[in-house]
Amino acid sequence: MHPVSARHVVILSLILLLLHLLHNLRIWLVPHANHQSGLLHVEKDDIWGLNFQGTAIPDVVDEVEEWQGVDKLGEWGLCPPGSFRLATMETCTPWLGCKEISDDVTVQTKIAQGAVKKIYKATWRGHTLAYSNLSNTAYLQDFLHGVEMLWNMQQTSHIVQLVGSCNTTLLTEYYRLGSAFHIKAILDRTSSDVRTRFNVAMSYIEAIHFLHNSPVGTRVMCDSYNLLHALSQFLVTEDLRLVLNDLDDIPEVNPEENVFVKCKRKHIKSPFNAPEQRWPFENEPFEDSRMPPYDEKIDIWKIPLVVRHLLGKVNGSDVVSSHLFQVHQRCRKRDPKQRPSATVVLKEYKRIRNMLFPE
Ligand SMILES: Nc1ncnc2c1ncn2[C@@H]1O[C@H](COP(=O)(O)OP(=O)(O)O)[C@@H](O)[C@H]1O
Ligand SMILES: [Mg+2]
Repeated sequence: MHPVSARHVVILSLILLLLHLLHNLRIWLVPHANHQSGLLHVEKDDIWGLNFQGTAIPDVVDEVEEWQGVDKLGEWGLCPPGSFRLATMETCTPWLGCKEISDDVTVQTKIAQGAVKKIYKATWRGHTLAYSNLSNTAYLQDFLHGVEMLWNMQQTSHIVQLVGSCNTTLLTEYYRLGSAFHIKAILDRTSSDVRTRFNVAMSYIEAIHFLHNSPVGTRVMCDSYNLLHALSQFLVTEDLRLVLNDLDDIPEVNPEENVFVKCKRKHIKSPFNAPEQRWPFENEPFEDSRMPPYDEKIDIWKIPLVVRHLLGKVNGSDVVSSHLFQVHQRCRKRDPKQRPSATVVLKEYKRIRNMLFPE
């Protein structure tokens, strides 16, 4: 009996040891999985928490779903709402607030001065930024509107990246190539072919499409009273895309609520502007209160003129123009209702790109 018992004891011990090992293995494996998801969860919460310290606005928090959606659509490289990442940074960082700006940002040379802002080059922890200050207190509301729009429109690659803000100071990503005011010279200097130029035009259409379908409603690009002025509101990326930069004057249109816009409280004459932006009573003096309002279709009217400028006269631009002829003709309808939406224009541009410049 005894030897058998001893063998039994050994076998039993081995079974117990095996069970113990399996149990440990399970403990090691299962919590490991839990730990991972826990980590992810905490990391995400941490990011949201950090994001909304100080500079938080409730609307941005609501954009989380929007962001996840956009992310799924493949708009790579975007940070979660409330944070930013420059090309020279590895991770997303919460927007800078008053303290970080006064402690860590060094203002350098002046780059430009517009009606609303003075823009300087600046550095933060070795990274280059654009530092804008309100240039004229008469435009305080425009400046603040621009910052608020930036807060709300970060989940896209078609709008300049916000880095931080404090009162009448705004920090954005710095674009070495500057504004699209100089796009012709930039494209000529880089000997850009028709494909590159078409892609620049495409990025412009995408930005307008985003503006007309933004998280804060249908917005109109009011600050665009002539061709070069319209282009100066965009910046040029290293890979020659246009991103919309100046959001100071993008009022909302909402036909359901009977909300329309009037871009400038003055007599607009330039043919660059849509017919409905011009004073309709030719022989009578201009009176703003009698001027009928209009909608986002004024941006559609301008597309063919902007795109003609972007395409320029290079080998193949006449072929591209001939393919764009039909959609552009519709953009130039005098009746705004007959003009296509930005969604339709973008779809047509994509169709033409796939046909003329397949990947
Ligand atoms: N982030 C930036 N990077 C490089 N240049 C910039 C940047 N932001 C603005 N600029 C330059 O400053 C000009 C004026 O900027 P903008 O925001 O349009 O000012 P304003 O609101 O006064 O019109 C732009 O056209 C561009 O040349
Ligand atoms: Mg401007």
